[in-house]
Amino acid sequence: MSRNDSELLKYYRNRAPEYEQIYYRDAPQRRAELAAEADRLQQLVVGKTVLDLACGTGYWLQRMSQTAAGIVAADISPEMIREARRKSYGCPVDFVQADLNQVPLVGHGFDVVALGFWFSHHPLQDYDRLFDTIEELSAPHGVVWMIDNNLPAEGLTHNSVGTDAHGNNLIARRLDSGREYLILKNYFDEPQLRTLFADRFRIERLTYGVCYWSVVLGSK
Ligand SMILES: C[S@@+](CC[C@H](N)C(=O)[O-])C[C@H]1O[C@@H](n2cnc3c(N)ncnc32)[C@H](O)[C@@H]1O
Repeated sequence: MSRNDSELLKYYRNRAPEYEQIYYRDAPQRRAELAAEADRLQQLVVGKTVLDLACGTGYWLQRMSQTAAGIVAADISPEMIREARRKSYGCPVDFVQADLNQVPLVGHGFDVVALGFWFSHHPLQDYDRLFDTIEELSAPHGVVWMIDNNLPAEGLTHNSVGTDAHGNNLIARRLDSGREYLILKNYFDEPQLRTLFADRFRIERLTYGVCYWSVVLGSK
């Protein structure tokens, strides 16, 4: 685990109680894009088995649970899982505390692997491992769903402090307590996303909004 990985982990462990504020800001464009994505996601997972990787407080988990057959939700942070467990769900949900690089569920063959707001934190130099992990966890017909931020979603909280040796963008993020963390957070334009995914996956849908991008990827 690199210094930035452990800083990211500390940041999210401490952020768990306040994390969901991001979904409820008074920002109509953000709200509209999130609502539209929730509808698309609920249609995608109808009757499916889902693995929600880095599930956080369960925002997308709760929405998927309205139509999915069953979900396994994994996150490395016990604080995030504690928050997610407080919610009620529309289908059976099992929680696993695990690093997404070592989820002990290889071979389970999930219909959908979901990654909400994770890709931007994943180091550029480590995508092959992430894509291998996703493939190992997916059914042969399975798809991957992701959503993540574009820069306009960040507003004033985007404080880039430069890049690391691999070209990853580093930003400063502050919690309500005032404590500041330096974390890895990359942003992409649409052509970059298409290039990144096209080698390994079939791009079934890519929605590039103002505040967010989302994608559904199938195996080639
Ligand atoms: C931006 S939050 C996303 C939460 C949720 N998916 C969502 O969309 O609201 C990132 C999550 O990744 C988790 N996380 C950080 N490092 C991780 C790792 N190595 N393995 C699994 N989860 C990790 C954090 O605990 C946090 O819950």
